[in-house]
Amino acid sequence: MLQHHYPVFKIFRGKRVHFGLTGSVAAYKILELLRLLKKSHIDAGATLTNSAASFVTPLSLQALGADPVYSGSEYDQADIFSHLSPGRTAHSFFVAPATANIISKAACGLGDDLLSTQLLAWKGAAYFCPAMNPAMWDNSAVVHNIDVLIKRGHTIIMPHEGSVACGQTGTGRLAPVADLYYHVLRSLGANDLEGQKVLITAGPTHEYYDLVRFLSNPSSGKMGLAIALACWIRGAQVYFVHGPMAPVSGLPGFEPIAVTTAMGMFDACSSLWHKCDKGIFSAAVSDFAPVPCPDAKFKKHGIKSVCWEMNSNPDILAEMSSRKTSHQTIAGFAAEADHLEENAHLKLRNKQLDIIVANHVQPLQTPFGSNDNKVFVMDKHGRRETWPKLSKAEVAWRLIDWFSLI
Ligand code: CTP
Repeated sequence: MLQHHYPVFKIFRGKRVHFGLTGSVAAYKILELLRLLKKSHIDAGATLTNSAASFVTPLSLQALGADPVYSGSEYDQADIFSHLSPGRTAHSFFVAPATANIISKAACGLGDDLLSTQLLAWKGAAYFCPAMNPAMWDNSAVVHNIDVLIKRGHTIIMPHEGSVACGQTGTGRLAPVADLYYHVLRSLGANDLEGQKVLITAGPTHEYYDLVRFLSNPSSGKMGLAIALACWIRGAQVYFVHGPMAPVSGLPGFEPIAVTTAMGMFDACSSLWHKCDKGIFSAAVSDFAPVPCPDAKFKKHGIKSVCWEMNSNPDILAEMSSRKTSHQTIAGFAAEADHLEENAHLKLRNKQLDIIVANHVQPLQTPFGSNDNKVFVMDKHGRRETWPKLSKAEVAWRLIDWFSLI
């Protein structure tokens, strides 16, 4: 289900993550996560505590590609160094779902079963993804133990609010699978954008002419979302300003900034751009906004045709580009019905961009809503490339790579 809504990145082939599963009903979500990691060509191993094995079986994990899969409280009979295995082979270690018990053991440094000893033998920082009843999550002992783990350099992927298995409502739900997936990718990446702030625009804008009707376009925002996620996975701080699009909840590390109109997007970008290092403007902004109808709802009253006055919207990309300082770089998009390369070049020059990514749009053949994109890219130094049809995740990744050439 996830892959329909969120991009899957396939650039971590050969990387390995180890999962520690503990006793929570949320353990089944790791099965979905394993499927995604398989699509991303990431290897995974797993260790189940005895309680975790009451919720999911080692066989299910193996069937979804996890290898090795350890279970039980003792050392694996077939591998007497199983307590050292994740430390020797994995690039990151996720305890998911993490119960109050494993959090407490990790905070104290207890090693009384295979998973806790594997954690003791793990040298780097680990990721803990708590899932428990809200009362347990609020318990001062758990609060203290979480604090100890954070101070020791571990990452806590915070549980979400909602209704938990027992029917109670509060904070304690395992973070969504999308959140876990992107955290795994970020944990495996080179973090080449660490310390950088990136502003991304995405989606359409809605320009209302009465209370219920608006002018817009079919942009889905998928391209911008893929860029935002790629930047975040690579370590950036992300400001994702998007027009109306399918809900983007459950994402990691950054809060989407939702706007409706071009003016709203312009205001949001104006307040953020000065503190950013890079800007990537993929939104399909309406160039014009109809002058609002004085009535709450426009009445047709037998009118056969209508001319509607429109005001031009600010060109957000051109305006941000004009405010660009020497340390900032900026990429824009172009949707062109003809003369793709010439028109893209004109936009690159007129809007003073560093990079432009151009799509060819034809009747019934636009990149809107698709998971793939075929683009022509050029930069201010005259470098140009036509890429084959790629997933939007891959276009995003390559585009970010291109910034290092500027
Ligand atoms: N853009 C913007 N604000 C606008 C219009 C466009 O920020 N009011 C940005 C888009 O996000 C994109 C780039 O400008 O990065 C080009 O958008 P496009 O629609 O291809 O072209 P326009 O500049 O609107 O020009 P035209 O529609 O005449 O081709």
